[in-house]
Amino acid sequence: MAKQLQAIRGMNDLLPEQTVVWQYFERKVRKVLASTGYSEIRMPVLEPTELFKRSIGEVTDIVEKEMYSFDDRNGDSLTLRPEGTAGCVRAAQQHSLLQNQTQRLWYYGPMFRHERPQKGRYRQFYQIGVETFGMEGPDIDAELIMLSARLWRELGILDHVRLELNSLGTAADRKRYREALVTYLRGHVDALDEDSRRRLESNPLRILDSKSETTQQLLKGAPVLSDYLDEESRQHFVGLRAMLDEAGIAYVVNPRLVRGLDYYGKTVFEWVTEELGAQGTVCAGGRYDGLVEQLGGKPAPAVGFAMGVERLILMLETLGLVPAEVHNQVDAYLLVLGADCSSYALSLAEKLRLAVPSLRLVVNCGGGSFKSQMKKVVRSGAPVALIVGENEVKTRTVGLKYQDRDEPQQTLSLEQTQNLLNQQLA
Ligand code: HAM
Repeated sequence: MAKQLQAIRGMNDLLPEQTVVWQYFERKVRKVLASTGYSEIRMPVLEPTELFKRSIGEVTDIVEKEMYSFDDRNGDSLTLRPEGTAGCVRAAQQHSLLQNQTQRLWYYGPMFRHERPQKGRYRQFYQIGVETFGMEGPDIDAELIMLSARLWRELGILDHVRLELNSLGTAADRKRYREALVTYLRGHVDALDEDSRRRLESNPLRILDSKSETTQQLLKGAPVLSDYLDEESRQHFVGLRAMLDEAGIAYVVNPRLVRGLDYYGKTVFEWVTEELGAQGTVCAGGRYDGLVEQLGGKPAPAVGFAMGVERLILMLETLGLVPAEVHNQVDAYLLVLGADCSSYALSLAEKLRLAVPSLRLVVNCGGGSFKSQMKKVVRSGAPVALIVGENEVKTRTVGLKYQDRDEPQQTLSLEQTQNLLNQQLA
């Protein structure tokens, strides 16, 4: 036998029993986004490698170690997008969406990072991202956070996530802070873990979210970024916090929250859960006022976030929050008892679907005994079995039997069947 091929490690198939849960999740997100005036944008999954180097930053884990990059047939270096912000900015700029106007955009799709796969961490994963442009005050930061909080409430997980907030200030603030931090850490270099020692030269701010216990211990005595913020950044953060307080949204200020992408300044935030083990960040984002200009556009303030779809769905499943009806995909299953009955059965089914627009009706194709077709009814979960045999073809009728009631089978006209199904689905 020929060798069977397997999916690439860290890249998952989604089977029908899972896609129904994804669709449930997607419906909730779309509703929340539409109700807040956000429009969908779709970008390609491949972009020039240069785009990610210039935006995410050359000395980040993503660009240094995790990108799927290759030269195409023309010799151009392309990369499977590791995130959506860079592509969204590129598209918005390219199509002049940023000229003297504000934008509220969202996107949905697969992202690719060559990380070590584990629960909640994959090499192809899905993000729903939200990006806004042209608004510089903290009001839009607050809107984004409120919107995500409303989504958590809709999904039933608000009590299981924690909002962490920080301000990274301006590039000049971070430069002054970086110098102070490096001076402090140089004095304790022996106590640093290996990764942090490397970062001391390349990207010292990332040492703040080191996983090493001893490094974290050392950081307790380190200078704090908030002491280095300029007045405007400070006021921005105060403004945001006041709006969240007014809205009753709880948060913790985490002075060590720095994020792994270079484009952020001022507000950064993460929604974190304890339900998923190590990969607990379900949604993250922040302000990136410099990125549009950095990618060649006229300066435009911007802020956004992205949520990890697999992680949120894992959470819904772990907490038992997926409604049972999500798995019911069929309202009625039509048994066809005899090859001569197929054409009547198929056209009857089309008439029913036309007359009862929300009806989800499966017709048995491929024959089979009454017993084997009844097994398929049970497997489909349909509460109604419709039956067409020689008799029904002759009399232009259909048999109907409820699966969840102890009632005898009825013989009905097309019109009676429509009425019953309409009542059942109302
Ligand atoms: P990020 O923190 O790299 O930010 O990713 C956002 C979210 O995507 C994470 O919080 C996590 O839920 C999910 N995620 C990331 N990597 C993986 C993975 N390997 N497997 C499963 N889920 C993952 C960004 O990507 C920014 N573009 C967010 C943003 C938008 N900032 C402003 N606008």
